[in-house]
Amino acid sequence: MNAEDVVQWADNLIFERTGDNLTPLEEAILTGVWQRQKYPQIAKEFNCSQSHVKKEAAKLWEKLGEELGEDLNKFNFRSKLEKKYTISQVSNFVRCVKGNINICNEFVQTIEDTKTRSPSPPESPQNQARSPIIDLTDAPELRYFYDRTSELSTLKQWILQAHTRLITVYGLSGIGKSAIALKLIEQTQTEFDYIIWLSLADTPTLSTLQTELKQFFGRSPQPPLPTVIDYFRSSRCLVILDDVQNIFKRSQLAGQYLAGYEDYGKFLKQIATSSHQSCLILLSWEKPREITALEAVNLSTQTLNLKGLGEQAAEILREKELADEEKWSDLIDLYQGHPSWLNIIAATILELFNGSVSLFLADGTADLFVGDLEPLLESHLERLSDSEKKALYWLASQNEAVDISRQPADSELSQSEFWQAIQSLGRRSLLEKVLVGTRSLFFLNPVFKAYIQCKLNLI
Ligand SMILES: Nc1ncnc2c1ncn2[C@@H]1O[C@H](COP(=O)(O)OP(=O)(O)O)[C@@H](O)[C@H]1O
Ligand SMILES: [Mg+2]
Repeated sequence: MNAEDVVQWADNLIFERTGDNLTPLEEAILTGVWQRQKYPQIAKEFNCSQSHVKKEAAKLWEKLGEELGEDLNKFNFRSKLEKKYTISQVSNFVRCVKGNINICNEFVQTIEDTKTRSPSPPESPQNQARSPIIDLTDAPELRYFYDRTSELSTLKQWILQAHTRLITVYGLSGIGKSAIALKLIEQTQTEFDYIIWLSLADTPTLSTLQTELKQFFGRSPQPPLPTVIDYFRSSRCLVILDDVQNIFKRSQLAGQYLAGYEDYGKFLKQIATSSHQSCLILLSWEKPREITALEAVNLSTQTLNLKGLGEQAAEILREKELADEEKWSDLIDLYQGHPSWLNIIAATILELFNGSVSLFLADGTADLFVGDLEPLLESHLERLSDSEKKALYWLASQNEAVDISRQPADSELSQSEFWQAIQSLGRRSLLEKVLVGTRSLFFLNPVFKAYIQCKLNLI
C-alpha cells in the first residue's frame, strides 16, 4: 500500500458517498501523513498556512473516520488503515466464507487489488481474476506490515512464474513467517481457486489434515474428488501449513518427523514431484530434512530462509515512539532486525529508559541485553539434540567465524556427528554462514551467542 493507493482509496470512498472528489489539499494531506510528514511541512509544500492544513485535515479525518467506523487522526491514520485492510479484510472474509462460497469477493479487494486488477474481457475467462474460496480461520492476525518487497517478489516469482509446487519458509520464531505469508495471500489471491491456511500447532495426523483439506475443497459446487492431489490437479490451490515444527521431534537433529507422522514426508514428496497446478507452503522453525534432497533434484521445490527486516525495522521503533532516531540502526543491527525481538526490546527501552535508545545503548561494552527475549530463545534451545548443544557451546566460545573442515580438538563429537550438528543448527537458523574466498565459515547467531555465554557464566 503506498500513498498513491491511499489517495485513490480515499477518493473512491468520498466520491461514493458525496459525489465529490478529494480536493488537492486533501490529497496532499493524505500523501504527506502517509509519508509521515508533519503538518507544517505539508503546509510549506502546498504553499498555504499551517492552520488551514490543520483545519482541512480535521474535516478529512472526520469524513474518513465515519466511513471506517474509527476515530481517526494524523497519528493513527496509517496504522488504522493498514489494520483495516489486512486483518479485517481477512477476518471479514473468513467470517463470510464459512459455509458460503464466493459471496464475499468485495471484501477481499485490497487497495492494491482495486488498482491493479486488470479489466479482463468477459469472453476470455482464463484471463479473468479468480475469486477464490478462502479459509483463513487458522491464520494469525496481522497488525502492521513493513516492507518485505524482495522476499515477496521472490515468493511471487516462484509461485506465479515458475509454478513451484512446494515452498518452505523457515526461520526463527517471530521473524515474520506468518506475516509474510498473509501478505502473499493478499497479493496473489486472484490467481487461485482455493486458499486455505492450516496450523499444525495441534499436531494433526496426515489423515486428519487431508480430511480437513478435502472438506474445505468440498465447499465448491464441483463434484467431490477422492484425494487432495486430485484437487491440486484440477484447480489452482494455495495451501499454507503453519507451525510445521510441531510435527518434528525434540532433542533430535532438526526436521525429523515425530513417530506416526512420517507419512507427511511422503505427502510432501508427492506434492513436489507429481504434476499439478497448485502450491503448498510450509512455515516452520526448522527446515524438514528431506527438503534439501528434494531441492537438489526437483526444480519445483524452493526454500526461503527468512531473516530480519533490515532497515525497515525502524518502523517498529517509530510505532513504539522511541527516541534518538540516529541510534536506531545500531539497535536494529544488534537485534538483527528481528521484528518480535525488537518489539520486546522496545518495550524494555520504554520501561527502563523512557524510550531513549541512546541510554539503552550507552554502555557499548556491556553484554548484549537479552532480558525478556529469554523465553523465545529458550524455546529454540530446548529443541536441540545433545550433539547440537555440544557444537553450540563450542561455537559460543569462539571469537570469530569458524572453519568446520576440522573439528575442534576438544570436541567429544566424531567428525560426522559434528558436521551433522552444524548442518542441523543451520536448518534451525541458529547459525550463519559467510563465504571467505572459497571457504564457508560459520558463526552463531549473536543474540543466541550472548545468551549462551551468559548461561555458561552462571553455571
Ligand atoms: N513485515 C513485518 N512488519 C511488521 N511487523 C512484523 C512483520 N513481520 C513480523 N512482524 C511482527 O512480528 C511478530 C511475529 O511475526 P510472525 O509473522 O507471527 O512471526 P513467525 O510466524 O515467524 O513466528 C508479528 O506479530 C508482528 O508484530
Ligand atoms: Mg507464525
